[in-house]
Amino acid sequence: MSTTTLNAPHIIAQTADFVRDKFLGEGSGHDWAHIRRVWHTSRALAVTLPAADPLVTELAALLHDVADWKFHAGDEEAGPRAARAWLTGLSVPEAIIVRVETIIREISFKGLGVPTPMSTPEGEVVQDADRLDAIGAIGVARAFAYGGHKGRSLHDPAVPPVAHESFESYKRNAAPTINHFYEKLLHLRERLHTPAARRIAEERHQFLETFLAQFLREWEGEDLA
Ligand code: ADP
Ligand code: NI
Repeated sequence: MSTTTLNAPHIIAQTADFVRDKFLGEGSGHDWAHIRRVWHTSRALAVTLPAADPLVTELAALLHDVADWKFHAGDEEAGPRAARAWLTGLSVPEAIIVRVETIIREISFKGLGVPTPMSTPEGEVVQDADRLDAIGAIGVARAFAYGGHKGRSLHDPAVPPVAHESFESYKRNAAPTINHFYEKLLHLRERLHTPAARRIAEERHQFLETFLAQFLREWEGEDLA
């Protein structure tokens, strides 16, 4: 088999099938539907950013959560390692594998006080797409799905939000899910890279604000009278 010509559509289709099979039925917010949305959003954002290579973007989008640290006992190399193993099996060139690994390593939110710059345009696109999926109505649903999966309460006014200054502190966090809005979700709009993602984020961010205001009103029974 020739390895000199790269059949990008085939590699992408094979990878999508692999990830779909792996994630179907996952209920913690890292399901195939999340990956599919990030994949499609990444494709749409990449079109607006000529510097982003489409194959690297799509592979990184499909593989970005393939072995998330939150579900692998803090092993931050599990994701890049799993992506490398898969892409090597497809005879993808080393240069492309390295670029995909780098994106997976850099993509995660690690606490409000921890900068997570992306070193490549493809990484900016996939991180933006991933973060767009953490806000809006889908973002609200995913936050509570994650909180439920971890057995967290919805809200506790006695537990103040924390601006995690280190990845360790962010990882240890077991606060009620509403805190996650203040510790992460409400800040994502400001941390997007591409103009196209910033435009999409406006309405999704507004929805977070609306949801929170209504949630807190109902929590306090302010709408009873
Ligand atoms: P990202 O891909 O942006 O790094 P994560 O992988 O950390 O996001 O999170 C996956 C999903 O779970 C997101 O929708 C995120 O908001 C949600 N999530 C992560 N941590 C928490 C938490 N402590 N409470 C509620 N939701 C969370
Ligand atoms: Ni993700």
